[in-house]
Amino acid sequence: AKKIGIITSGGDAPGMNAAVRAVVRYGISLGYQMVGIRRGFKGLLEDDFATLTLRSVSGIINTGGTFLHTGRCPETKTKAGMNRAVRTIKELDLSGLIIIGGDGSLAAGNALTKFGVKVVNIPASIDNDIYGTDETIGYDTALNTAVEAIDKIRDTATSHDRIFVVEIMGREHGFLTLDVGIAAGCEFIVVPEMKPNMKKLALELTKGKERGKTSEIIAFAEGYGCSDDFADEIAKLTGLEVRVSNLGYIQRGGRPTARTRILASKFGVEAMKLFHAGKYNRLVGITNGKITSAPIQSVIKREKKFNEAEFKLLRTLSV
Ligand code: F6P
Repeated sequence: AKKIGIITSGGDAPGMNAAVRAVVRYGISLGYQMVGIRRGFKGLLEDDFATLTLRSVSGIINTGGTFLHTGRCPETKTKAGMNRAVRTIKELDLSGLIIIGGDGSLAAGNALTKFGVKVVNIPASIDNDIYGTDETIGYDTALNTAVEAIDKIRDTATSHDRIFVVEIMGREHGFLTLDVGIAAGCEFIVVPEMKPNMKKLALELTKGKERGKTSEIIAFAEGYGCSDDFADEIAKLTGLEVRVSNLGYIQRGGRPTARTRILASKFGVEAMKLFHAGKYNRLVGITNGKITSAPIQSVIKREKKFNEAEFKLLRTLSV
């Protein structure tokens, strides 16, 4: 049987396991032998892999993290690293590689295509920052985790009449922060895409208090800068009590939501369908509710747009 490698790389995201399960089981149903590469691209550099059977992927649809393990692998950015990876792929006699991960994994996938390796990329990241898909694997789970956490923080904020700055992950983007803000009813969001006027923001916070608001929560994207400095400035400008809570890595882990699992399953199947049909070097995605795919070449250097209309909507609704 033809062999296909499967790899999870970059930051882990809930639902990666559900995607691996779908790729492996659908791949086997099409007659392929599936080989799991361990610890991300390090597995290709250090010969760390194993054949995956139908039973290898039992009991993982509901687990966070990635059972294949993962890693950030700077060597994928070097020619020597790529040569080594390609050598392993040839030695293993892999017909191609299914790569599950974020933008670093997409870049690595793109680089591999230049060496003639056939790849299909599946977008997985809690940041939802990949052009070519409306949603990434893990995003809905991280969103729900953050919203649940802010619901709890709201109790303290209200009881103490405090302002809270809650720091949300998302690398240099505010996509996760925007959706968290809408869903948790945050009064403001602070994102790198739309820098606030600090004086105006402080005035709005004060006015909110005057309108009878007991708590005010600012969802703060990590990409904006230092949340402690930001909170200090707000405290100075408003004279109000401000606290910071950094949600941190709880956003990366945990049981994937049903929505994440379904997306991961569909992406996994689509990736193998594409491969089987000879449509390589593509990124799987979802666009307006439909499973889609696009050439990696066409998505690799493009930036997803921040939704300014929703940013404004948040303010209208949280007044
Ligand atoms: O890409 C996911 C993410 O959690 C980002 O939100 C964050 O900026 C980054 O990974 C942290 O990466 P690491 O865990 O490798 O330091």
